[in-house]
Amino acid sequence: MGAGHHEAASAENATFVFQNTCSIRENAEGKIWHRLKFFESLRRKRRSATPHVAILGCMAERLKDKLLDAGTVDLVVGPDGYRQLPTLVQAVLDDPQTPLTCVDFSPTEHYHDIRPTRKPGDVSAYVSIMRGCNNMCTFCIVPFTRGREKSRDFQSIVDEITFLVHDGPGLKEVWLLGQNVNGYHDASPTSAALFPSRTSYQTSSAGFANHFNSRQKHAPGARFSDLLAAVAAISPELRVRFTSPHPKDFPPDVLDTVAAHPNICSALHMPLQSGSSTNLARMRRGYTKGAYLDLVAHARATIPGVTISTDIIAGFCGETEEEHADTLDVMERVRFEQAFMFAYSKRDKTHAARHLDDDVPEATKSRRLQEVIDTFRRIAVEKNRQEETGAVHLVLVEGLSTKGRIGGGDNNALAFTGRTDGNKRVVFTTAGGGPLPAYNAHAPPQLPLTAVGPAETVDSLRGTYVAVRIVEAGGTTLKGVALGRSSISDWAAAR
Ligand code: 5AD
Ligand code: SF4
Repeated sequence: MGAGHHEAASAENATFVFQNTCSIRENAEGKIWHRLKFFESLRRKRRSATPHVAILGCMAERLKDKLLDAGTVDLVVGPDGYRQLPTLVQAVLDDPQTPLTCVDFSPTEHYHDIRPTRKPGDVSAYVSIMRGCNNMCTFCIVPFTRGREKSRDFQSIVDEITFLVHDGPGLKEVWLLGQNVNGYHDASPTSAALFPSRTSYQTSSAGFANHFNSRQKHAPGARFSDLLAAVAAISPELRVRFTSPHPKDFPPDVLDTVAAHPNICSALHMPLQSGSSTNLARMRRGYTKGAYLDLVAHARATIPGVTISTDIIAGFCGETEEEHADTLDVMERVRFEQAFMFAYSKRDKTHAARHLDDDVPEATKSRRLQEVIDTFRRIAVEKNRQEETGAVHLVLVEGLSTKGRIGGGDNNALAFTGRTDGNKRVVFTTAGGGPLPAYNAHAPPQLPLTAVGPAETVDSLRGTYVAVRIVEAGGTTLKGVALGRSSISDWAAAR
């Protein structure tokens, strides 16, 4: 935008469209090929060379020639080329006949001095803290499209978030992002001076192999727990979340840091992938079923009320019925709050594509995936019914619910939406405020609340913390009634 361009209302009105892409699974790429057909139809309708099309991200990195051959793409820019975008866009506008590409990896590109534009009314920001992944799970294309791990400068991350919270748009929630986010390690001389070598520091979760970072074990520099603590200190009213981690990088320091800061959300993503030790070995995940279960137990003991979400792949190479049953067994034991579940798809260049047989028939993959999904849903619904009905949560309000209103007739109230500390979606109304119900074991008894009245609007509530009593708990969304405004500090003090 700084180069004199402005955002178009839709692709239909645009001169240039930028399509970000993901290569992680086959169907993510399938959707992009469809999208390209749509852009082509726009050009035909307009009888013009516009919209020009730029493909950004991992698919650009992976398929640059194929994308150019398709004839509908003007610009192909991989994850390390975004700094060149203004120049490349201008070059395409000047000479639309010549498609351009920029897909080289850069070992030093961290985008640390580029601040994304935020939209007015945004409550959350996403800040990239590291890029790439060294783990080489055998099914995964990320190390090939994103390259090796590169951590961003510690101070530049803290400065950016300080700006977003105190000087800029006044954000209330920050997501720290990275392909292997908790492998964060900024070993630059400035960080090394701030965080000298700690020989007692454990870089991995107990029982987890850490082949790729073992040489760095005692190296000085800012680790993930150091960054979490520094970001949490920016404001006690800023919620801090992070994704996507690897289970091996939850050493005691990270769990203790989450537990010690009320504003670091007690919600951990712990991608399981498979519950079978033999399948995990073929995936080169570096842990066994037992080590994963121990880690979950450790996390739950350290962080009271922590919610745990996961990723699961059904039908990986050579997966037997017994191995599949082990995945279901881990699901029964852990009882995940959220799960992202996929059928295995073979990705070029990966170890699995080159050396393992994608031998689980499609029908079996689909059936196992369905069993995984059904198991997750059944448990999530059961767990929510048991644990959430009557509970009180501190909800960061994001805006109006897409449902607009809930109830009907006299009870037709505006419905707001937000998330709990554990990252569950809550839809609530402001009707029926009042003191906290005494019967509710989950409600902090000493919580001072400021009234939330029936006249609240989206502008008065967005970005505030509201205590909500849950009255109905479904599979993924909780429904509730606002009790009053609160703050993270008051909430933590009352518990
Ligand atoms: N097939 C299916 N799922 C995959 N994922 C990564 N690679 C594949 C693949 N080849 C899933 C993993 C990962 C999530 C982001 O995508 O579960 O954690
Ligand atoms: Fe892919 Fe995640 Fe494994 Fe890295 S840790 S290789 S991103 S699945």
